[in-house]
Amino acid sequence: MDFALLLNAFERTHRGRGWSRQRLLHECLRAAIRGGQLAPGTRLAATRVLAAELGLARNTVLYAYEQLASEGFVLPDRRGTVVAGSAGVPAAAPAAGGNGGLSRRVQHLRGVAGQDVNASVVFPADAMGAFAPGVPALDEFPLAQWRRMLDRAWRALTPRQLNYGDPAGEPQLRMAIADHLRAARGVVCDAGQVFITDGTQSSLDVCLRAFADQGDTLWIEHPAYGGALAAGRGAGLQVTGIAVDMDGIAPTDEDWHAAPPRLIYTTPSHQYPTGSVLSPARRMALLERARAAGALIIEDDYDSEFRHGGPPLAAMQGLVADAPVVYLGTFSKTMFPALRLAFIVVPAPLAGAFAQMQAQGAARGRVAEQLALAEFLRSGLFARHVRRMRRLYRQRRDALSEALQRHACAGAAIHGGTAGMHLALRFHDAAWDDLALSRRAAQDGIVALALSAHGTGNRMDEGAGWNGFLLGYAQVPAENMDGLARRLGALLPA
Ligand SMILES: Cc1ncc(COP(=O)(O)O)c(C=O)c1O
Repeated sequence: MDFALLLNAFERTHRGRGWSRQRLLHECLRAAIRGGQLAPGTRLAATRVLAAELGLARNTVLYAYEQLASEGFVLPDRRGTVVAGSAGVPAAAPAAGGNGGLSRRVQHLRGVAGQDVNASVVFPADAMGAFAPGVPALDEFPLAQWRRMLDRAWRALTPRQLNYGDPAGEPQLRMAIADHLRAARGVVCDAGQVFITDGTQSSLDVCLRAFADQGDTLWIEHPAYGGALAAGRGAGLQVTGIAVDMDGIAPTDEDWHAAPPRLIYTTPSHQYPTGSVLSPARRMALLERARAAGALIIEDDYDSEFRHGGPPLAAMQGLVADAPVVYLGTFSKTMFPALRLAFIVVPAPLAGAFAQMQAQGAARGRVAEQLALAEFLRSGLFARHVRRMRRLYRQRRDALSEALQRHACAGAAIHGGTAGMHLALRFHDAAWDDLALSRRAAQDGIVALALSAHGTGNRMDEGAGWNGFLLGYAQVPAENMDGLARRLGALLPA
């Protein structure tokens, strides 16, 4: 395929539209795919090659490819970019009788249309073993205390409280969360800004609906938390991956210029999956530039209670006055995932409108659980449990780090262990195939998710240079670490 010829012909017929070079290239390639000139399975030229051939900046080509990917016309894989099966429907999507009736937005989700790069990694939803990420030490949870709290809440419930609950959440819980966040995370808020949800996924869904319109640009970290990626795609947003380095999300001037965001999703206190902590300078820069661009930051503070080293870092939400930040928190890590209680802190000027929106669509209920949790927070039992788990997770992190140093660090380095419940074992050699290694670990009974499987799907540099394992250690006893690290190390190339 002579791309210069193709683009020239396209340009002639679309002259006068005032399109940018990027738009022109994107429209041209899309038309060629739709028209069959670029057949399903065709591998597109590498961005660098095409840029040189057409005399364009590499980023112009990169963004055009990303847009095609986000629309489902092309699929990134480890070796580049291939044309999808039919216009907008990835090649691997099962025909009618499978998921043929699903919307295109949903067909972009990992795994749904068969294009999941990590599909063969064994990671069932209830995976608990080493090193499944995001799973707290469930056998350490003070179940008896919690049962007593629940029992007390149920006994105090009146018949009125069996009705549909407050759509914003129970006032006592909202108040207890606001108090906790002010003291523990430096979040500037009152209870009126706090909204209860049944998990971060719901928080994300409702925030994307509330604060962006279809087609708006959502920046997401690259590599990314799959839940945020799914929410962005599901909301019909233009999802743009922004590279993460050792200091967290690192947008360039080019990013701000080429794809100005309406929303920015970030996990600054412990990036998922890399474990990078967003540096103080980056935090301030992100806040300032977001404000100048009229963008809102969605700060997902999912495991920040567990900080193991370095100075404590307050939430971005409280760093500057009237920060353009929507703050998300969850009790999945500090309590247990099945509790299904999480929360959103909305900027004060938006809280009224947000409350009205929630009144029309929020799930209302689970009053007893909410009241029990409020009491758990107020009584100090929550803080005590978090303190215990912080100590325990630090021990487990230390044990894992030391074991990895002994057995698995010949060609890899540990990163991202200063906070949270997981760390990254990053391979030095880009040629080590972390997806294949992850599959081999799974065959050996170890969940070691590949970092490169967390790409945003529309970036051509899948994994953004992050090649290695994501290792959740919170639920793994310290005495098991040596044996597990030895088994992992044995899988790695010599
Ligand atoms: C980045 C991130 N945010 C949030 C969550 C928690 O989500 P939820 O509240 O739905 O359990 C997780 C779970 O692993 C996560 O990794």
